[in-house]
Amino acid sequence: MSGQRGVIRRAVCPGSFDPVTNGHLDIIGRAAGLYDELVVAVFINPTKSSLFSVQERLDLLAEVTADYDNIRTDTFQGLVVDYCRANEIPVIVKGLRAVSDFDYELQMAQMNHRLAGVDTLFMPTNPEYSFLASSLVKEVARWGGDVSALVPPPVLKRLIERAAAEPPPAAAGG
Ligand code: PNS
Repeated sequence: MSGQRGVIRRAVCPGSFDPVTNGHLDIIGRAAGLYDELVVAVFINPTKSSLFSVQERLDLLAEVTADYDNIRTDTFQGLVVDYCRANEIPVIVKGLRAVSDFDYELQMAQMNHRLAGVDTLFMPTNPEYSFLASSLVKEVARWGGDVSALVPPPVLKRLIERAAAEPPPAAAGG
């Protein structure tokens, strides 16, 4: 499958993916069906602390998207539009969980279009995952809650390992 006149239709799905959730995977999988190539790109953000290292996030993404032959994973620093320009990617794909996501996403989409002519495709999140956020998954998993329906199995395994290795103070008996 390719676009008009043999042009490869390419898009990027950028994010922190700390960690990737089933909500992300829903968007990623549907976007992969719309484009010839989809790059899932982990934003290296030196100002934000993360549970998983960039390499761990990248490895998990590669593992959980391995069944798609048109998805590749990558990292980027700086502006997403600079990454798009350098990789000839005209479209950013974003999932919208709720109206509350829309305000900031619209601002970013308009800024990205102004900066570099890069368009943004908004995909409504599957309602099954409209409440889902990586931050909540981390919080619930840290306190021993069941997140097995919310993340893919390799992520669940890592979360459980991490919770066991670094229990919260009360759980550690402190
Ligand atoms: O998963 P997140 O943390 O919601 O992803 C946000 C992300 C990484 C997609 C967004 O912050 C971003 O694109 N950052 C790259 C820096 C950039 O281009 N900022 C200007 C946006 S207008």
